[in-house]
Amino acid sequence: MTTVRDVTAKAGDEPITMLTAYDAPTADIVDDAGIDIILVGDSLGNTSLGHDTTLPVTVDDMARHVGAVSRATDDALVVADMPFLSFGVDEAASIENAGRMLKEEGADAVKLECGPHTVDLTEKLVQLGIPVMAHLGLTPQHVNQYGGYPRQGTDQAAAAQILDLAREHEAAGAFSLVLEHIPSNLAAEVTAELETPTIGIGAGPECDGQVLVVDDAVGLSEWSPSFAKQFGSVREEMESAVGDYIDAVESGSFPADEHSHESADLDEIY
Ligand code: KIV
Repeated sequence: MTTVRDVTAKAGDEPITMLTAYDAPTADIVDDAGIDIILVGDSLGNTSLGHDTTLPVTVDDMARHVGAVSRATDDALVVADMPFLSFGVDEAASIENAGRMLKEEGADAVKLECGPHTVDLTEKLVQLGIPVMAHLGLTPQHVNQYGGYPRQGTDQAAAAQILDLAREHEAAGAFSLVLEHIPSNLAAEVTAELETPTIGIGAGPECDGQVLVVDDAVGLSEWSPSFAKQFGSVREEMESAVGDYIDAVESGSFPADEHSHESADLDEIY
């Protein structure tokens, strides 16, 4: 099993690899391939639950998917993303929701979309034994405040704010920092200045690791952001397989003899 200490130790030596997964078969494939960290992202709202944003995702949604991923994962560190308003409103509720992911669903750590309001919470969760991955830069749960998903940290003041938040979450005990959609020179600066490993998504090559949404990486998504790269064409493979299945049923070539069986005891059924 990969631990948060293994992740910290790897930083600086070798790149840390992280992908999302939301279900058991995907987790099994990603884990067997040797990924370091599997994130059960609240992006499942978009990828798997058919929502336009991550805001409707509930703690129950996350728990169901975190459990499925944890059960299918032997080696990778499993990180549960905490959904919109499940943390940062009330401390006791935040701890209960985060704790549920570890106690009941088998996650190894949680991820919080961070701001000034998550510094004390990070410290508290870490004290209680819940490792925290802090997510900075573009935090999609702020979509309504941003009016979309714009790049973050593009001017001096915004960049300084991200660097300060990174320092504060490091001091609070976060074991890693996800940096999303920020300039690569800012991500390089955060990575150079902090001991805590940085894991970038749309943040350039200088981070200690990289993360993508698995649907984007394997080519299952209908749309993916400009910073993502497709390493396969699963959507085309599925479209072709589904088309072949429909053709085979319609033409009568499926099921064939090898997909059927007869019972000798049923010479007369009625
Ligand atoms: O929800 C998610 O998948 C994420 C990653 C994109 C970092 O937060």
